[in-house]
Amino acid sequence: MKEAEVGNKIKSLTEQLHYHNELYYVKNEPEISDYEFDRLMRELQDLEQAFPQFKKDDSPTQRVGGTITKDFPTVRHRYRMYSLDNTYSEEEVKAFVNRVERQLGRMDASYYCELKYDGVAMNLSYEQGILKLAATRGDGEEGDDITTNAKTIRSIPLRIKTSTGLPSTFEVRGEVVMPISVFHQLNKDREDAGETLLANPRNSAAGTLKLQDSSEVAKRKLLFIAYGIISDEKSLSTHAEGMEALRQMGFFVPDSGALQSGVEEVMEFIHAWEQKRHHLDVETDGCVVKVNEIHLQDELGYTAKSPRWAMAYKYKAESASTVLKNIVYQVGRTGAVTPVAELEPVKLAGTTVKRASLHNANEILRLDLHEGDMVFVEKGGEIIPKITGVDLAKRKPDAWAVPFPTHCPECGTTLVRAEGEAVHYCPNEETCPPQQLGRIEHFISRKAMDIDSLGPETLRGLIDHHKIANYADLYDLHYNDLHELQFTIVNELTGKKGHRSLKEKSASKILASIEQSKNKPFGNVLFALGIRHVGRTIAQKLARHFGSLDALMKAGKEELEATPEIGGKIAESILHFFSAEDKQELIERLKAAGLQMQLEKQEEPDSNLLAGKKIVISGVFSQFSRDELKKLIENHGGSNVSSISATTDFLVAGENMGPAKQEKALQLGIPILSEQALLDMINPSV
Ligand code: IVH
Repeated sequence: MKEAEVGNKIKSLTEQLHYHNELYYVKNEPEISDYEFDRLMRELQDLEQAFPQFKKDDSPTQRVGGTITKDFPTVRHRYRMYSLDNTYSEEEVKAFVNRVERQLGRMDASYYCELKYDGVAMNLSYEQGILKLAATRGDGEEGDDITTNAKTIRSIPLRIKTSTGLPSTFEVRGEVVMPISVFHQLNKDREDAGETLLANPRNSAAGTLKLQDSSEVAKRKLLFIAYGIISDEKSLSTHAEGMEALRQMGFFVPDSGALQSGVEEVMEFIHAWEQKRHHLDVETDGCVVKVNEIHLQDELGYTAKSPRWAMAYKYKAESASTVLKNIVYQVGRTGAVTPVAELEPVKLAGTTVKRASLHNANEILRLDLHEGDMVFVEKGGEIIPKITGVDLAKRKPDAWAVPFPTHCPECGTTLVRAEGEAVHYCPNEETCPPQQLGRIEHFISRKAMDIDSLGPETLRGLIDHHKIANYADLYDLHYNDLHELQFTIVNELTGKKGHRSLKEKSASKILASIEQSKNKPFGNVLFALGIRHVGRTIAQKLARHFGSLDALMKAGKEELEATPEIGGKIAESILHFFSAEDKQELIERLKAAGLQMQLEKQEEPDSNLLAGKKIVISGVFSQFSRDELKKLIENHGGSNVSSISATTDFLVAGENMGPAKQEKALQLGIPILSEQALLDMINPSV
């Protein structure tokens, strides 16, 4: 391919990706599969890598991230970012409408009503249709430049078609939120990796925007909800028109926004969304009422802090007060101790609340909880209610302040708290019962060793009867250990205890699935070990990079940190895990039992995904050596050839690839893939 052709190819791929991106993320009507989309993206990435002179600021490859930002420079907003006047009272909304009408001397203003999204405010500046700057609100005058991270958010167009007659130099205001479903998935992944959980979607969105690694931001699937456009070109005369223009430009503007006239219709909107908003996948905490006509907005103007033409009505979080009966301390798989408040049952938002999460010791201190306190509980968008305060007037004078335990409530070991962390841990990983159980539960879970026929009651029974104490013990279980097992079951309604034993069939089934787990790939085994911060994806990456457990255990800090996506925290956790004698012993036993401690056996092909493909590799690679890469290609049915010809299927390009090879591949139109693209082809599930 000649330079001009490369330029055209890049242009055409860019067009296609912009088009499909909008269909997928804004219109929700994809025309091509995710696989096909990724293929186009990879093709563009590879071409841009080979010909950086063609790479543009608004290239869709920016979505994938990869740039590291050490700090976020402060930038001054061109137009100040005001805040909104807030109220919880319907009377004040009515007073707002009256005030507007009085000041304007007319009754016919219309009001655009929107939901108030609970996230992080952001300003986007576009020049000649191209996104130039994304900044946080900051103090309203100055914010932080987070452009690189914002570019990974799919619902933010990187460029706007300038031929639409709409303004091409303008600013867009909106809220960056983390969808509730994304938040739950993220916390699930963190739980799998033994990490502390994030408090709520709002904080998670704020934290994500400030991550240094933009490819991490890309993975978090944030959403930008547009709610304002500011332009010097006075082509828009109402807020509603502005919203429609934003939609046309490819922004995500929710359909919930509605034009209402008069205070009654405004109140109708507010009432209609009070319950309905809970069905959305984003958190909302109220409504925003805006005067629709821009010239009327201008006439009304601003106070020192907020516009006189808009007001936010916030829904009251449903709350109730009840007696704090007790605080119990739960110990999780990783030894983290979480306090949970036990409450006198109380009705709240349609359900009976008996417990509330207290997160950690700081929360108990912050609330200054005393035994028997009358507490206020609230249920916002979140499922677990929280204690928001104490009714001090009702506190008995001799009530005790609730102390945080110094010893593990389960095993009596002295608790530890790492410097700067809010969470207390029980360090007795070995014999503290919930840690023991949690670790084995993690080991047998579906994404790890997948020993699915072993249910929680049986597992508890096996531990209680000292048949197993750790996951390696599973592989020494005999039929009789299971068959003779009697375990206690508690009837949840009556509290009565009974005994049960396993059916014969179940015992054999459990043994069979333990046996089968020995075929689980090395990546699963590595995840199953339960190394803190090593979730499923990281485990797979480590497995691919090191190839075997022995190689991983031999790696020092530097080597670990040089592995793509492995930072200091993960590296330290890995070193800590493998340096413990008890862990080494467990690993020896797992090895002896025959678990997969290296990547799939090299003799047989791992798959036929590259069958018949002729592949040339060139340059230096980051995850594999050239020899390893050649082997990998062969193990997946492909053949490694040394020179490029018309029959070559693709060239895998590493760093410093030979220019002659590159030229030839381009001349013959042979696709150039990155190392990662090749790995993704043979391991599409990772
Ligand atoms: S308009 C000058 N509309 O609420 C008016 N704000 O308390 C600018 N917010 O900082 C704001 N949803 O982060 C507007 N539909 C919406 C909103 C919204 C959420 C946030 C925004 C702002 C804060 C003001």
